[in-house]
Amino acid sequence: MSAFQNDIIPSTGPEFYRELCGSLQGLISQEPDPIAQMANACALLFHHIPKLNWLGFYLIKGETLVVGPFQGKPACTRIKLGRGVCGTVAQTCKTIVVKDVHEFEGHIACDAASRSEIVLPLMSLNGKLWGVLDCDSPQVDRFTKEDEQGLEEVRQVLEKSISLN
Ligand code: SME
Repeated sequence: MSAFQNDIIPSTGPEFYRELCGSLQGLISQEPDPIAQMANACALLFHHIPKLNWLGFYLIKGETLVVGPFQGKPACTRIKLGRGVCGTVAQTCKTIVVKDVHEFEGHIACDAASRSEIVLPLMSLNGKLWGVLDCDSPQVDRFTKEDEQGLEEVRQVLEKSISLN
């Protein structure tokens, strides 16, 4: 059993995310079905990254994001491009960290418990956006620079393994 599974390493910082990415890659890289990959990916991430209340995928369908596999309470099913944090990330293809959702104009409150969030764009190898990864926390200012860097590595594993367009 790895140090990660034994919870020997701290649950934040570069070592934590390195272990997490290794586990993620092992879990999804051999599986060709994108729904199966995303379902297991969000279960792994949600249950190992501390202080989250929602983590999941929104997938691009035309001009709309449609909710995909996730962990947490039921969420908004559809978000228009440019709306809320997820819709803005889908439009700009740039990660957004929101320290306090009450300060983000147009934030869409799916779960009233969410107080901060990070949303990362997910792109195919040919540079086309296929979705976003949304991580929400009940704690204000939950996502540090280390989390942002670690989740960027998570994003790279997802983009390398999941093929949606
Ligand atoms: N907060 C998001 C909506 C998605 S839910 O939080 C799951 C947003 O403003 O894009």
